Amino acid sequence: MIDFILTAYRDSNKNIVLESKNGVKFNMPKDDDSIRKIKQAISFKQNVRAKMENGSVVFGATKAEPTPGKAFPELMEMAVDYVAAPVNVPSEQAELINFVHTEAKNLKPDLLMMNPLSWKYLVRSAMRGKNIMMTGPAGCGKTMAAKSLVNALDRPEFYFNLGATQDPRSTLIGNTHFSKEDGTYFTESEFVKAIQTEDAVILLDELSRAHPEAWNILMTVLDQGQRYLRLDEAEGSPTIKVAKGVCFIATANIGNEYTSTRVIDRAMLDRFTIIEMEMLDGDAEKDLLTMLYPNLDRESIDIIGDIVGDTRTEMATESPRISTAISTRASVELASLVYDGFTVEEAANVIIYPQYDSAGGVDSERTFVKQIIQKYISDGSDEDLFNTDGIEE
Ligand SMILES: Nc1ncnc2c1ncn2[C@@H]1O[C@H](COP(=O)(O)OP(=O)(O)OP(=O)(O)O)[C@@H](O)[C@H]1O
Ligand SMILES: [Mg+2]
Repeated sequence: MIDFILTAYRDSNKNIVLESKNGVKFNMPKDDDSIRKIKQAISFKQNVRAKMENGSVVFGATKAEPTPGKAFPELMEMAVDYVAAPVNVPSEQAELINFVHTEAKNLKPDLLMMNPLSWKYLVRSAMRGKNIMMTGPAGCGKTMAAKSLVNALDRPEFYFNLGATQDPRSTLIGNTHFSKEDGTYFTESEFVKAIQTEDAVILLDELSRAHPEAWNILMTVLDQGQRYLRLDEAEGSPTIKVAKGVCFIATANIGNEYTSTRVIDRAMLDRFTIIEMEMLDGDAEKDLLTMLYPNLDRESIDIIGDIVGDTRTEMATESPRISTAISTRASVELASLVYDGFTVEEAANVIIYPQYDSAGGVDSERTFVKQIIQKYISDGSDEDLFNTDGIEE
């Protein structure tokens, strides 16, 4: 009976190696279905199980430990001239369901706090080759989640920060140069290479901050029915096809809170599966800070968690008295300052206050946030900020 477990990985030349526990290497099977399963096992950081079923060898991903190769002499033969037409292979559908609903949670890094349903949806969308857009307020983990997904997949990856590009045409298409010897010539962008790489995962960070010109260029690229890049605006100019299996993951701040970001148009949004990330609540925030700073004292973590939690609760009200909540990015910064010996109050002074407008004095957003902070920081006095005449700036 053939039933054994191998480790599968890519060597430095990116070739797939199948190896048993005692280091015996096996040839790769030749049929597409088996190859796909083995690649999947690598992506999901699992081992490969091979077993005989109805006369042929069936592969699948598994969490089980590899077994020694010696114990399976048949295996050697099988591995050397493998010519199977697998029967009875669990359907791709069954595998996807199993993966998304049971395995995927192990791929999420512990340090990424994300609603399990959203993570599941994210993994499923990537497996289905969708264009994905992570949306949500600033500093809530959009980029982190996108990068975590890319890391979890064993696929060629490319990163473009569209918010930071001043010249979309040269970032996404390339540059035309002139030299006396060669005349006019064209150097293609990294993006052109990326879209021609089969199975590439391409991160388009800060798409909402991108120049409208970048959106125009991306329109055809992201359209499942078109999937090509036009090198020139002119009708009939050369185009580059997006390779098979390429998937895009974008991040965007969307919502009336983000006036500095451009409004993505409807047609662009329609090209994506939207995955919304929310701000964590106070308790989740405390859990995250505890994981990040296990040596930080409990009290400080609680204070920080309560303060940021309050600003988020306020944002969820019908008429919030502040225009934005304290982000997780900021709270991690706060904790790191406290870890470096600053008091929570000092940390709040340099990190939180500058984010809130002081215009309007006692009615300002800054005063409101100060009141929240004061509520949690006991400075030894009973003085209540609500009753003080002026607020120090
Ligand atoms: N959900 C989260 N889980 C864990 N850490 C988080 C989370 N959200 C934010 N952080 C922390 O904040 C930092 C910033 O997060 P990230 O860059 O992913 O935010 P973003 O949503 O992309 O923000 P922006 O809209 O400004 O681009 C991370 O490096 C991490 O330390
Ligand atoms: Mg980001």
